[in-house]
Amino acid sequence: MSPSVLPCVKPPAIYLLDTIPGESTEVVVLNRKKRKPSTVKNKSHPNATTVHTQALREQVTPGLTLAASTAPMEGAGKYNAFAQVQAAGIASAQPILIGAAQRADLPPHGVTVVIVDYGSSEGKNSLSPMRNVIQALRARVTPEVAISVTHTDLPANDFRGLFSLLDSSCESYLQEQQNIFCTATGRSFYEKLFPANSVTLGWCSFAAHWLSRVPVSIPGHIITSKAGGEAAVELKRQAATDWSTFLAHRTNELRPGGRLVVVLTVRDDNGVAGTDEMLCMINSVLQDLVALNVVREDEYARMMVPDYTRNLGELLAPFSSALCQQDLTLHQHQIVEIDDPVWKSFQLDRNPDTLLNSYVGLARAVWFPALLAVLDLDRSTIERSAIADLLESRLRQQITAWGSDSPVFRVKEIIMEIVKNN
Ligand SMILES: C[S@@+](CC[C@H](N)C(=O)[O-])C[C@H]1O[C@@H](n2cnc3c(N)ncnc32)[C@H](O)[C@@H]1O
Repeated sequence: MSPSVLPCVKPPAIYLLDTIPGESTEVVVLNRKKRKPSTVKNKSHPNATTVHTQALREQVTPGLTLAASTAPMEGAGKYNAFAQVQAAGIASAQPILIGAAQRADLPPHGVTVVIVDYGSSEGKNSLSPMRNVIQALRARVTPEVAISVTHTDLPANDFRGLFSLLDSSCESYLQEQQNIFCTATGRSFYEKLFPANSVTLGWCSFAAHWLSRVPVSIPGHIITSKAGGEAAVELKRQAATDWSTFLAHRTNELRPGGRLVVVLTVRDDNGVAGTDEMLCMINSVLQDLVALNVVREDEYARMMVPDYTRNLGELLAPFSSALCQQDLTLHQHQIVEIDDPVWKSFQLDRNPDTLLNSYVGLARAVWFPALLAVLDLDRSTIERSAIADLLESRLRQQITAWGSDSPVFRVKEIIMEIVKNN
């Protein structure tokens, strides 16, 4: 897409940035700049304007500010290296996933069996579930029948890392069997991603609690669960809309009798989500950085982790609506507490450095990109990485102060097996 200069951009305009790993894909310009950015109209978002990032960077004046929606995980192998808590959660979900692959209705003989991995990130955590699913399906179809796996994620995801891993890892499903194909789709799963009735088995782990957008900001906090009053209502509504939208698109894409297994963090009956402790520590470090004039107040005010951990009622709600009941059945769901693997290893090796590196590495890979995506556009790359490094080192101190008597993460996950009705 080549930009053409439009005569004028009137605020408040929404800018969809070119996709760059680790950066926001949607930003709202809050302050007007004097010169005009290079822009093109965005066809799929009629009210939005697409701006080429570099063009915007070069033309912004200091003080231009942005509000983020979602950002992918940190790339270059960082998510893969540190997503151990998620890996432990996935291990617990494998029996249900394998069962779903054994139970899913297959396409007519000879037609490619389509598997989709929604929200794959860099893919390390997808290798084992995809290998198991392929094995279960291969036991049901002859070797001449092709099986395809498509990994999906946000456009700015590190797909290069994903493909390198698929190509080189001895754990890759491509190493084991013949007639297996892999592809990727860089589009939000809140959009229609595949032709109707084409997917036999869908898998989505630790991704569908990321909202499509954060409609509010919360004074003094970065996590959605700290919202009160009207902001809390607005977030609840956004989370309900996103969950229904996600299910509606998957319903369309699944073949009749096809199955979808979704793994999500779940808020317990006391309203607690197992990632709250870590996120509160990050928030407190950010407040320190504001006090030290490292992070600007406006920047902090825009920072939000676009994650909403739903409770069981919110997760089950769509399945009791008449529309959903007609198309989908929740075959089973199970809530499991993830045994924090980082803390478990610490119980064995008592190595505080490994514990700290693992916790901080996870926080940096998962949450820092969304937070840092809203730094002012006049921040240089060097400044951005200096802020990330400072955030990281101060978080290290916070975790040290937390002590190692109990795990930082006490995450409960829900595993849902959903069937598209025949
Ligand atoms: C915590 S990672 C989970 C990755 C992997 N499935 C796992 O279990 O380790 C969440 C992933 O969801 C992706 N994601 C968030 N919102 C998304 C959206 N709207 N569409 C597609 N992917 C999304 C993120 O970019 C990220 O890669």
